[in-house]
Amino acid sequence: MSARVFLNGQWLDAAEARIPVMDRGFLFGDGVYEVIPVYSRRPFRLEQHLQRLQHSLDGIRLANPHDIEAWTGFVNRLAAEAEWEDQSIYIQVTRGPMAVRNHAFPAVVTPTSVILAEPMSTPQPAQREQGIAAVSAADIRWLRCDLKTTSLLANCLLRQMAVDAGCVETVLFRDGFLTEGSASSIFVVKDGRLLAPIQNHLMLPGITYDVILELAARHGMPHEVRDITEAETRGADELWMCSSTKEVLPIVTLDGKPVGGGRPGPQFAAMYAWYQAFKVTVMRAAA
Ligand code: PDD
Repeated sequence: MSARVFLNGQWLDAAEARIPVMDRGFLFGDGVYEVIPVYSRRPFRLEQHLQRLQHSLDGIRLANPHDIEAWTGFVNRLAAEAEWEDQSIYIQVTRGPMAVRNHAFPAVVTPTSVILAEPMSTPQPAQREQGIAAVSAADIRWLRCDLKTTSLLANCLLRQMAVDAGCVETVLFRDGFLTEGSASSIFVVKDGRLLAPIQNHLMLPGITYDVILELAARHGMPHEVRDITEAETRGADELWMCSSTKEVLPIVTLDGKPVGGGRPGPQFAAMYAWYQAFKVTVMRAAA
C-alpha cells in the first residue's frame, strides 16, 4: 500500500495525488507550509504550528481553507494511520490553480491544500557527539522571513552552499547581525549564557526555538533574547542549530574555524539531555 496523502479534502494514495500544472504553488511558489514533528503518533505543539500556519496565510493574504479544528482532525488522522510511530507531517496550502499565468491573484481563489507524512529521521548520534560543520553567508532572503512560505529558492541555494563545502548548515547574517540558519534557528553560548536572536520579520518564529528557551528557563540556564552581532557569533563559546526535525545540534566549526574549543560544549550537553528528557516525558506522553 502506498502512503496516504490528504489533498483538497480527499484521502488518496500518494501515487494517485495530482496537482494541476497551473497551480500558483508550482508556478510562483505562492503558498505556505508547516512541518510538524510527531512522536509516538502524537503531533507535538500542533496548535502552535497551526497558529503559525495562520500567521503565514494572513501574511500572504490567503484565506485558510480549514479551521483549526478541521486541521487538527486531519493531522491526527494521518498521524494515527501513517506507518511510522515517529513522523514529520508536512502541510502545504497554495493559492491554487489559475486559468492563465498572471502574477495578480485570481478573482476567485480555490486553494490547494495537502498534508503528507514522512518518517521522522532524527540526526545521527555522530553529529551530536562530534558536532557539525557550518558555513556562513549573507542572508539574501526577502524581508518577511517570519512567514513560512514555499518560495524557498534562497533557502535552498544557501543550504546547498553548506553541502558543497561538506557542511550541514549555513548560518546567516544580515547587516552584521545573526538571523538564523537556512532551515534552522541558531543559538549562541557565551560565558555560560545562552543568547537567542529576537524573533522579528527577519527570521522564522521557530517552535523548537521556543522549546529551547523554555528548557533554559526551567533548568536555570542564564539566557537572553537580543540582537547578536556577527562578531559575537564568530567569537561564541558554543553555537547550536535547532529545528523540528534536527532537534538541537552543536556547530563546532564555522567557515572552517573552530567554534570555542571546536567540540560540543557543556551547555549543549545539558540542553541535549533536557531536550531528550522532555521528549520522553512530554512529547511522547499521553495528551
Ligand atoms: N524548517 N528557520 C527556518 C528558515 C526553517 O526552515 C526552520 C525549520 C526553522 C525552525 O523552525 P521549527 O523549530 O519550527 O521547525 C527556522 C523546517 C523543518 C523545514 O523547512 O523543513
